[in-house]
Amino acid sequence: MTTMPIPLALSTDLLTGTEWNEARVKELFQLSADVKARPDHYSSALAGRFLALILEKPSLRTRVTFEVGMRSLGGTAIFLDQTLSRLGERESIPDVARNLSCWVHGIVARVFEQRELEQLAEFASVPVINALSDRFHPCQAYSDFFTLHERFGTLRNLKLAYIGDGNNVCRSLMTVAARVGAEMRIATPAGYEPDASIVAEAQRAARESHGSLAIFRSPQEAVAGAQAVYTDVWASMGQEHEAAARAEIFASYQVNDTLMKQAAPDAVFMHCLPAHRGAEVTDSIMDSSRSIVFDQAENRLHAQKAILLMLLS
Ligand code: CP
Ligand code: NVA
Repeated sequence: MTTMPIPLALSTDLLTGTEWNEARVKELFQLSADVKARPDHYSSALAGRFLALILEKPSLRTRVTFEVGMRSLGGTAIFLDQTLSRLGERESIPDVARNLSCWVHGIVARVFEQRELEQLAEFASVPVINALSDRFHPCQAYSDFFTLHERFGTLRNLKLAYIGDGNNVCRSLMTVAARVGAEMRIATPAGYEPDASIVAEAQRAARESHGSLAIFRSPQEAVAGAQAVYTDVWASMGQEHEAAARAEIFASYQVNDTLMKQAAPDAVFMHCLPAHRGAEVTDSIMDSSRSIVFDQAENRLHAQKAILLMLLS
């Protein structure tokens, strides 16, 4: 059985989403589509390969899609539960990285701090993949733009509005949007904007890809004419103690029927999940025909299988 030639990744690690240029992201989406269309053609592509899956925070989608993904490529994922103690407590992160490099062909890690991933990558001799940190969630953003590409046929000048907290998911969406020529508009309350340095980096990349990135205060302005409206929780994992205060601050940033009316008539609703129904999004939008949240969840599997093929083959 023939499979597509697997493109070689430019960088062996996927820590931020800035590693891959537009050409490489296109190759990732082509491979994701082929893996989705013809899963049997890849069923032994990673035979004999092992993946360590380290999670410091809870997960449904990321854990299951990486485990199912590795298994369906003929490989094996080994789950290392770090939800009860921090990585680096029992043994230093450099020593964890050096040990794992003796036995596995890749490390996927969900961590509290981006610097933990950077340390793993510095001391591991195998690829390290960010499965969510305080800063970024690149696997989510790649899957989401793959979903948008399936839906709209092109990402060039696609109008994506992100409403809510300028968090890890927002930063990764910006980073990928800027590399595929999308037009991204973000609305956050004051003090919750994505960091100026990441905005500047994304705006620089967007100029090259002929996309754009604009930051708004008003959700209505950001959503006007958007083809996709995206939101995420107002308090991320690790910020639970701020949840009550944030619920007040973000109250006018809810994605509901009134806000969605400002978007384009064919606009879709997106969320990385888990969603807090009744907070950042209403049931009426989550459960509407515009909602593509479960397409996003499904595509985590296909896009991550493509990422694993590109980094672990
Ligand atoms: N979207 C996402 O990463 O989901 P989990 O936290 O369940 O992995
Ligand atoms: N921003 C959320 C995303 C969860 C997938 C969090 O970090 O908890």
